[in-house]
Amino acid sequence: MERVMRSGSYILGEEVSAFETEFAASLGVRHAVAVASGTDAIEVMLRGHGIGAGDKVVAPAFAPSAVAAGILRSGAELLLADVEEEMFTLCPESLEAVLSSPAGRDVKAVLAVHLYGQPAAWDQLQKVTAAHGVLLLEDCAQSHGAFWQGRPTGTLGSSAAFSFYPTKNLAALGDAGAVVTGDDELAGRLRQVRQYGWHERHVSECDGVNSRMDELQAAVLRVKLPGLTENVSRRRQIATHYVLRLRSCRALRLPVTRSRCEHAFHQFVVRSSRRDALLQHLHARGIPATVHYPVALHQQAAFRSNGSFPASEKLAAEVLSLPLHPWLKAEAIPTVCEALEAFNHG
Ligand SMILES: Cc1ncc(COP(=O)(O)O)c(C=O)c1O
Repeated sequence: MERVMRSGSYILGEEVSAFETEFAASLGVRHAVAVASGTDAIEVMLRGHGIGAGDKVVAPAFAPSAVAAGILRSGAELLLADVEEEMFTLCPESLEAVLSSPAGRDVKAVLAVHLYGQPAAWDQLQKVTAAHGVLLLEDCAQSHGAFWQGRPTGTLGSSAAFSFYPTKNLAALGDAGAVVTGDDELAGRLRQVRQYGWHERHVSECDGVNSRMDELQAAVLRVKLPGLTENVSRRRQIATHYVLRLRSCRALRLPVTRSRCEHAFHQFVVRSSRRDALLQHLHARGIPATVHYPVALHQQAAFRSNGSFPASEKLAAEVLSLPLHPWLKAEAIPTVCEALEAFNHG
């Protein structure tokens, strides 16, 4: 931070370039284009692909509102598909139904969210999108450090959006995000879109936005990036402890990891049919459990959508995130588990 303050350069300077190079290398992709947030990363990624007004983009109905907001900001219309109840990610059958419906005709892209750090069903989603000639893009805001069949999330499709919001697995000290891609031309367009559409200083070639990463955030991210793998393994260890301890608690449904995948455990999410009472019970004992996300996208006024999304609605009513971060003290895990076990699940 001191280095940045002395440099006199505060936006899109040497720290940002170095972070872009280091982050891309950590994933094994050619380009990372740093932007101002994860929501911006979605918008800039879609615009970079030439997606905007008149196009449609499909997203899962069970996802944070940021996903819908980013898509709408690109000018595209949002279509929703349901999720797989057990995995929390986009359901290939529901996606197929959306893409085959009359509404699916103008769909240009599908945004698969690796929710909570669980890789989406990439091979099946790829089959469905390829059959319909539609782009399949990744939202990796919650999946830094996750792997799908040995490949890091973020490298599965043509491009991926990341967030470095302060609670994420790789976290800045404020808002920050990035789009990664192996496509040189796309990377060039992304760099234009993030800064007024400039192809040279003060000369715009396309419709762009102002979404630039600060040097301070890039400098912080450069310090933290080398610790990502260790932090994600700590998250996995904590998740394993929770699973071992809570296996016998029959009223709770524990998270499962998709086969041949490595979960990044951005969140450890259990399910209970009495979620709200359980949440109150935990809060009364000082346990900071929380709900990601209490209302599915189609149930929110801003994103109302036709269609039926039963798994998304069920999850919104049942999910509960237990405390999990790399610095969680070992003794906190039994305390949380005892409180869960003491709850009368009825
Ligand atoms: C899945 C997902 N996508 C996109 C975003 C947007 O990221 P940001 O908060 O950095 O705009 C978030 C985080 O809020 C997220 O969890």
